[in-house]
Amino acid sequence: MIDLSSLTLLKGKKALVTGIANDKSIAWGCAKAFEAFGADVAITYLNDKTRTFVEPLARELRSSVLLPLDLTKEGQLEAVFDDIEKKWGRLDILLHSIAFAPKEDLQGRVVDCSKPGFLMAMELSCWSFIRMTKLAEPLMKNGGVAFTMTYYGSQMVVEHYNMMGPVKAALESATRYMAAELGPKKIRVHAISPGPLKTRAASGISDFESLLSKAESKAPTRSLVSIDDVGVAVAFLATDAAKLITGDTLYIDGGYHIID
Ligand SMILES: NC(=O)c1ccc[n+]([C@@H]2O[C@H](COP(=O)([O-])OP(=O)(O)OC[C@H]3O[C@@H](n4cnc5c(N)ncnc54)[C@H](O)[C@@H]3O)[C@@H](O)[C@H]2O)c1
Repeated sequence: MIDLSSLTLLKGKKALVTGIANDKSIAWGCAKAFEAFGADVAITYLNDKTRTFVEPLARELRSSVLLPLDLTKEGQLEAVFDDIEKKWGRLDILLHSIAFAPKEDLQGRVVDCSKPGFLMAMELSCWSFIRMTKLAEPLMKNGGVAFTMTYYGSQMVVEHYNMMGPVKAALESATRYMAAELGPKKIRVHAISPGPLKTRAASGISDFESLLSKAESKAPTRSLVSIDDVGVAVAFLATDAAKLITGDTLYIDGGYHIID
């Protein structure tokens, strides 16, 4: 990873990072980078099982804010923002790095997906970002920035990405609308589109290995992306140096998306 020890562009900023399952999670790459840039970072964990993996990571960070967040549990998301308000009184950076789709729906054709499966994927992977941004808005008193994670399968038909394609397309569109609505309050909203990374979420996608090898051989940089590559780029976008960049879907994929 790049030596960021001299960078303090996020000093004094407060960041909430959701979606860390373990040390392979994209959200963990972002949390490390936010802290390396000087921010205080609060992180969430899904349940007692994932807490085992997330707690040691929380200890690696300066901040001691570790909160439970299962989006299927009524009121838990609101409780996270209440805790942040009590602890910090404000928020500068929000990272939403959560996606879920039932396996049977994800691994079948889009035309075959069930209504409950589709609605669940939309709720947990797209609506939750809208809701989080709404809850962050009053805490972003001096402006702020909200990020979500998307994938190229929103724009192009990527084999095996199936139902997550339309879900991520909705997420990217919601990002643009929220960026337009919140821009006057100096709140920026971005969708980040990394190339494929071997994480727990990715293990639900069939034949992920061939996606990785295609990405590596086709990307102009001929390299796979790491969670640190994503983290550093996201941390830069959170700084005031990027204060006029908003509403985009930013590809961090070695340029894969420009190649036919
Ligand atoms: N891995 C990739 O190749 C890739 C590429 C582009 C975008 N993404 C996106 O990045 C994001 C993070 O995924 P990742 O690859 O780091 O995998 P990951 O498995 O490490 O992270 C997914 C997170 O979603 C959380 N989650 C699932 N259901 C939840 C619920 N009900 N409540 C709260 N949290 C819940 C999990 O606990 C986990 O922390 C996802 O939106 C994914 O679609 C991944």
